[in-house]
Amino acid sequence: MEAFSSPKVSSLLLFSLFVSSIMATASAGNFYQDFDLTWGDRRARIVDGGKLLMLSLDRASGSGFQSKKEYLFGRIDMQLKLVSGNSAGTVTAYYLSSQGQAHDEIDFEFLGNLSGDPYILHTNVFTQGKGNREQQFYLWFDPTKNFHTYSVIWNPQRIIFLVDNFPIREFKNQESIGVPFPKSQPMRIYSSLWNADDWATRGGVVKIDWSKAPFTAFYRNFNAAACIWSYGSSSCASKSASPMSNIGWQTQGLDVKSRRRLRWVHRYYMIYNYCTDMKRFPEGLPPECRRSRSI
Ligand SMILES: *[C@@H]1O[C@H](CO)[C@@H](O)[C@H](O)[C@H]1NC(C)=O
Repeated sequence: MEAFSSPKVSSLLLFSLFVSSIMATASAGNFYQDFDLTWGDRRARIVDGGKLLMLSLDRASGSGFQSKKEYLFGRIDMQLKLVSGNSAGTVTAYYLSSQGQAHDEIDFEFLGNLSGDPYILHTNVFTQGKGNREQQFYLWFDPTKNFHTYSVIWNPQRIIFLVDNFPIREFKNQESIGVPFPKSQPMRIYSSLWNADDWATRGGVVKIDWSKAPFTAFYRNFNAAACIWSYGSSSCASKSASPMSNIGWQTQGLDVKSRRRLRWVHRYYMIYNYCTDMKRFPEGLPPECRRSRSI
């Protein structure tokens, strides 16, 4: 008998075909399919058959991309590896935003630093065009050494920011006390790497060292379990395909374990919270701060 018809070989072949088809469906989205490179010419690039996206910044320009689709609620995961070495003055922004004056926005911004000094993760939530809800954190790892997962869970009750599945921030729907909540404007996902050395590192004191250019940030394993908005109606994926979560994102809140994690992050890694900044709000803290004990 010839080798290729032996039962051992063919079952092995079948098995490996089976495994590779599982891997194909389990692997996250393809950047060619899901995103458009929007500025910076060749500084924004998709490589590795669509599995990796790179943004870079040099003296002439930064770069950026945006999702092809618009989303209205969902769980959005992305893995990022940030600019390494001396990244002072660079900002990598990764956010969801709707369009127009009264837009809604959910922001992650990573402020670079000198080699060995910590990045700051800056977050904000805009509703109806109004932000001023900054919270800032250090990370409990070096975000330039490996990929880490940055996620947003956005459902009608709340927005949760997560880092490696640790909640770092919760913005609750408090429309009942008059705080607008993003719930009717679909958002795209955006990211850009740019020069913010007028404010980013130590308030703009530390400038970009252009001799270290180009600066590069990397993206992979994008996954959106979300409602996709198209021509005025939305269609939703019910289950998150993310290995991080098998809870339906539509109703997901913070369970006991997640609350414990959130408290740990706030206790050891939070460096700024608008909700405790009395100097900034002498007339009284914003209404969402007065009520919510969780922020
Ligand atoms: C940079 O490092 C300094 C010194 O550790 C720190 O005070 C600062 O918060 C860090 N981050 C930024 C973005 O300036």
